[in-house]
Amino acid sequence: MRRDFERTILVTGGAGFIGTNFIEGLARRRPRLRIIDLDALTYAAHPESFERQRAMDNVIPVQGDICDAALAADLLARYEVTGVIHFAAESHVDNSIADPVKFVRTNVSGTAALLEAAYRCWSKADCLQTARFHHISTDEVFGSLGAEGLFTEDSPYAPTSPYSASKAAADLLVAAYIKTFGLNATISHASNNFGPWQHDEKFIPTVIRRCLAREAIPLYGTGENVRDWIWVEDHCRAVETIFFEAAPASRYIVSAENERTNLQIARSICRIFDELRPWPGHRHEELIAHVADRPGHDFRYASCSGRLRRTLGWRPTGSFEERLRETVAWYVSRRGAALPASGPQTDPAHSKNGR
Ligand SMILES: NC(=O)c1ccc[n+]([C@@H]2O[C@H](COP(=O)([O-])OP(=O)(O)OC[C@H]3O[C@@H](n4cnc5c(N)ncnc54)[C@H](O)[C@@H]3O)[C@@H](O)[C@H]2O)c1
Repeated sequence: MRRDFERTILVTGGAGFIGTNFIEGLARRRPRLRIIDLDALTYAAHPESFERQRAMDNVIPVQGDICDAALAADLLARYEVTGVIHFAAESHVDNSIADPVKFVRTNVSGTAALLEAAYRCWSKADCLQTARFHHISTDEVFGSLGAEGLFTEDSPYAPTSPYSASKAAADLLVAAYIKTFGLNATISHASNNFGPWQHDEKFIPTVIRRCLAREAIPLYGTGENVRDWIWVEDHCRAVETIFFEAAPASRYIVSAENERTNLQIARSICRIFDELRPWPGHRHEELIAHVADRPGHDFRYASCSGRLRRTLGWRPTGSFEERLRETVAWYVSRRGAALPASGPQTDPAHSKNGR
């Protein structure tokens, strides 16, 4: 481990989907930044990410719970941390319907523990104005849209699932620490991410996995629900820009403005498979199977990232279709992709459908 670091930051949840991508990019782009990754390695984490981080000069992975206030305080003081980027969360809406209290513990109490540790440490070190806490939120805190309109940073909060309610509560705690204690914090609300390292339980990896296995692709309800998709690396660059450049107490929506219905996404992936791995006599679309809708399923999320583009010059890179292809290629190569010889096996009851 090198010793000439300019600064140390704590990233939470850096072994999850977005955190893994974030730390790999940030560590490469900023070799003089030391990054502590605090992750509990829940079922959603990639233990492999810790292995990869151990091989990096400027990343220290630490297995631990964000609800453990003493651990957070110790890490902040021991490594003289002057920045926190907080990704760690329970993130799957279906799981929040099955076990809401777990989401309150991690997403609300965990965020409170981190905020308190950061406030106390930075007050003591007299760096409350310069040290920064960046909180990763979601567009889901704004609830569901009808066919028209876009979320902006000024949209009212109207969360509908235990997941989005717990994220909204965490956002309000961050806002309270800004107002009450003068914490230098920022918040970003990202739309649906896709790309490498996403957990199998989420929608796009599920469709890819089912195409690979030629098994039924479960689609909630009619499949007409609309999501706004962003390439994970574009989100990561936005977070980096906001963390280093945004004004204190600012809030940004992070969206590439790619609205697609779930049915369109499933069909696009099926078409990519038709080209990449033709299935003689069939089209992968035949695998799509509509299943009972998720309770309280939000109809449409769509956000406007005008503030981020205008004030910080952020832009998404590449087209949605190119990025989707890259994503499919990543999962196919990771899975070794041996294809079954037989036809489709339909078992939608045993499938999950993500964000
Ligand atoms: N995935 C998306 O499309 C999306 C969109 C907008 C916002 N977000 C937000 O981005 C963040 C990261 O999302 P993701 O998709 O990478 O999630 P993920 O579920 O893939 O990863 C979450 C990570 O947090 C860790 N974690 C969970 N509980 C913890 C605890 N108590 N202590 C320490 N670590 C813990 C897990 O081990 C895992 O590594 C979340 O805050 C989520 O709400 C995600």
